[in-house]
Amino acid sequence: MTIFKSKKDLNNHLKPLRNKGVIIGLVPTMGALHQGHLSLVNKAVNNTDVVVVTIFVNPTQFDNKVDLEKYPQTLKEDVKLLQIISEDILVFAPTKEDIYDGEVVSKSFQFDGLDKVMEGEFRKGHFDGVATIVDLLFDAVKPNKAYFGEKDFQQLQIIKKLVAQNWPTLEIIPCEILREENGLAMSSRNERLSAPTRKAASFIYKTLKTAKSMFGTKNAIVVTDWVKQQFAENEKFTLEYFQIADIDTLTPIQQKQSGIKYRGFIAVFAEDVRLIDNIALNY
Ligand code: PAF
Repeated sequence: MTIFKSKKDLNNHLKPLRNKGVIIGLVPTMGALHQGHLSLVNKAVNNTDVVVVTIFVNPTQFDNKVDLEKYPQTLKEDVKLLQIISEDILVFAPTKEDIYDGEVVSKSFQFDGLDKVMEGEFRKGHFDGVATIVDLLFDAVKPNKAYFGEKDFQQLQIIKKLVAQNWPTLEIIPCEILREENGLAMSSRNERLSAPTRKAASFIYKTLKTAKSMFGTKNAIVVTDWVKQQFAENEKFTLEYFQIADIDTLTPIQQKQSGIKYRGFIAVFAEDVRLIDNIALNY
């Protein structure tokens, strides 16, 4: 397994491969790898010639200093997990000075409002930080395909927009949400939950599934109010938002329209851990 710490070393390795027409797959991560990440890596390994997994905890996408400080950094363990999949995977774990060329700041992007709702509303500057680092990683790796999980569905839509603007030949491969046995969406943050809360967090997906079945017959406001009520009655979890939105514009809806795909998006605090999840409601 080769670990690159600088863009220069990575590029020296990848350049001759690119020139030979090798198909490069990129899986960007912030490390603390779990089965959800590994399913993306497996997909990339099966569908491309060379896979680069980036491991970088990106400071510019954190609106909360404590959250950044608490973010697990487990490079050694991550590498061991990747080795089980394939010794040929390339790991890119740059320093922040290297990847940002010394100036660790976000650029500002135009995403037609996709970045202003939900996560964008509650985590100011988050998506400028995500788009900045993803753009830098695309530039460092120049992949043919890049793999992103649907757990961060809003992020996925924003990255598709970034790709349409800056990386026209890059193919984005969306990957389904992987869940723990009790339905909790896999996330590095789950490790920070106490065992009883992690178990009780099945409540989040259970509520989303019921919202989905209600959405067949009830309007969006009724479903949204019902979800809010469920969380108001549950002392273990604090709802930050639940929103039903058109998957393309991410605009919250009042009235369903035929031919449009909708998802329900949720952010919840459990203990001091912020969890997000989402579910397709009519497809
Ligand atoms: O989804 C994540 O883990 C991060 O937002 C990403 C895409 C690796 C950028 O830091």
